[in-house]
Amino acid sequence: MQSFLLTLVLLATSAAAAEAKRPATPVHYSKPPPPDGMTYTVTCHAGKSPGGPVFLNHIGVAEAKQAMSSATQFVWNMFNQTHPGDRRNVKKIALFIDNMKGDTLDAYPGKNEIHVNANFLGKYKGNIRREFVGIVYHQVTRVWQWTGGKDREAPKGLLTGIAEFVRMEAHYGTSEKVKPGEGKQWDQGFGVTARFLAHCEKVKKGFVKELNKRMRYGYTKAYFVDILGKPVDQLWKEYKSKYPKY
Ligand SMILES: *[C@@H]1O[C@H](CO)[C@@H](O)[C@H](O)[C@H]1NC(C)=O
Repeated sequence: MQSFLLTLVLLATSAAAAEAKRPATPVHYSKPPPPDGMTYTVTCHAGKSPGGPVFLNHIGVAEAKQAMSSATQFVWNMFNQTHPGDRRNVKKIALFIDNMKGDTLDAYPGKNEIHVNANFLGKYKGNIRREFVGIVYHQVTRVWQWTGGKDREAPKGLLTGIAEFVRMEAHYGTSEKVKPGEGKQWDQGFGVTARFLAHCEKVKKGFVKELNKRMRYGYTKAYFVDILGKPVDQLWKEYKSKYPKY
């Protein structure tokens, strides 16, 4: 039993050492984001599981904070929320790297918090920093976006779709994962809904910003008619008909 444990410790240590040697691939911000008056905190709860060293060696606390700030400013610009009165009253966003079940991409927003699965980062084979920044853009959008409120909450799929749309606009992913025209329904969520929202943006530029703004005080499908002149189901049909192979 003891030698079994020792082997585990040695395996974990050599995995960490191999990780440390992997060359870091920088994320190319055009420039560091200007100060935004926010507080960002980053806490790694991954301990010695492989995701911990991968996060600390290849991304790190400073870069994670920079990603949160850069994402916040991107969202404010995109949603046209440059005045504090236009946005949720958030002064601090706390990010946690947690060991969650399994090693798939698992991340969720809490109350002004972001939780990311360390095991996913530990197993990720591609450009880990770009992927991480993409996850941050998605989750930071979840923190800032309007959701319709308690009684008139928007569909979850629309909320994740808007977050993924923002990530896609920032060029940090989705395009590789979900192609235009894919999916079964407009509010399926994530990349499928993001692609559909990109189509709606072609119908009318600024649609997502306008939709988010209205969702401050509730949500109704009628917003699609109000802003785009057509029901969402018709927009979805028109969108799907452009991509017969799906
Ligand atoms: C942005 O919001 C301001 C009000 O805060 C408004 O006057 C302006 O027209 C909006 N711009 C766009 C492009 O939506």
